[in-house]
Amino acid sequence: MLDEIADRRLVFITGKGGVGKSTVTAALARALARDGRRVLVLETDTFSAMEDLFDYESTGLEPVMISEGLYASNLTSEECFVATLRRFVPSERIARAVINNRIARVFFKAAPSVDEVTILDQVREFFEKTDDADQPYYDHILVDLPASGHAVTFLNVPATMHGMMRGIGPIANMSGQVADLIADESTTALIAVCLPEEMPVNETIELADDVVETLGRPMDLAIANMVHRTPLDDDIRPVFEELHRRVRDEYPNVEGLFFDDEDGRDDDTAIARLVEGNALAVGWARRDREYLDKLHAELDAPVLELPIFYESAGSDIVERMARMLAGETPEGAFEARASSA
Ligand SMILES: Nc1ncnc2c1ncn2[C@@H]1O[C@H](COP(=O)(O)OP(=O)(O)OP(=O)(O)O)[C@@H](O)[C@H]1O
Ligand SMILES: [Mg+2]
Repeated sequence: MLDEIADRRLVFITGKGGVGKSTVTAALARALARDGRRVLVLETDTFSAMEDLFDYESTGLEPVMISEGLYASNLTSEECFVATLRRFVPSERIARAVINNRIARVFFKAAPSVDEVTILDQVREFFEKTDDADQPYYDHILVDLPASGHAVTFLNVPATMHGMMRGIGPIANMSGQVADLIADESTTALIAVCLPEEMPVNETIELADDVVETLGRPMDLAIANMVHRTPLDDDIRPVFEELHRRVRDEYPNVEGLFFDDEDGRDDDTAIARLVEGNALAVGWARRDREYLDKLHAELDAPVLELPIFYESAGSDIVERMARMLAGETPEGAFEARASSA
């Protein structure tokens, strides 16, 4: 299940607000770390979801170890700016003077795209970090991109900066290196998370086109999250449908039974309610399937489906999802469905 990213060291996760980007990122990280890899999860200057999901406190740029092999950091634009400046200005004293100069700060912070370039340059720094044996320090870096339709714009900033400066000068150089890393399909993967609904599916298909057009590289994987599973296997579905038809004949106002306390709660109405409840779940799964079929058919990338879970704590959902991604599916029927483009 992790094949699409197993050999990619840098993975960007994007998608609309609330679709589960942070949950999926955290679950992927847990699954990879459990597989013995050293994984770094990066957030980009947002209210941190990982602090809650991983139960830790971000202390600045320096990644915090969450568990064996799992690290996290929330890259604030402020700290990335300072770190980048330090790399450019050889003297610590001069760097500090610039950083502490109010006017210089206002000037730098007002310059276009400084935040994007310095954050992405910090990602590159972590990417290039090596251990004592001169091997990459992190096996995987997962970046939970901010919620917006602008992930492509965000990732394209370094290439734009590089072009604007005609490749001349240290900032153009830095931007060029970051742009090359983002464009490199062999090391970098782009994943879009979406929901099995009409608009999100259409937007994901458009996003994939936009990625190719703007970044000149493909999107690697779409994850359809929170998919409703059907509670019924194909072989018992006809039996259920017959039962449902009879309940509908007997109780034309069966939906009313859910709300109407007057209508005695005897065994018959209890069964009618149970059948109708199941019919609802079957309906949700069928509706999801329509949009998923469209996504599988029209998206030029593999699609991975992840089910909706009903745990109340986000960290429990991460745990379940991580086990599923790792291919351990104790709840056999819950196995995620994958397709390749
Ligand atoms: N497969 C799932 N089943 C059930 N709930 C889920 C699932 N995936 C995510 N959630 C829940 O949905 C909510 C949103 O998830 P999450 O915060 O990961 O989304 P996000 O895309 O990162 O949101 P944001 O755009 O605000 O950063 C959370 O409450 C999370 O626990
Ligand atoms: Mg999030």
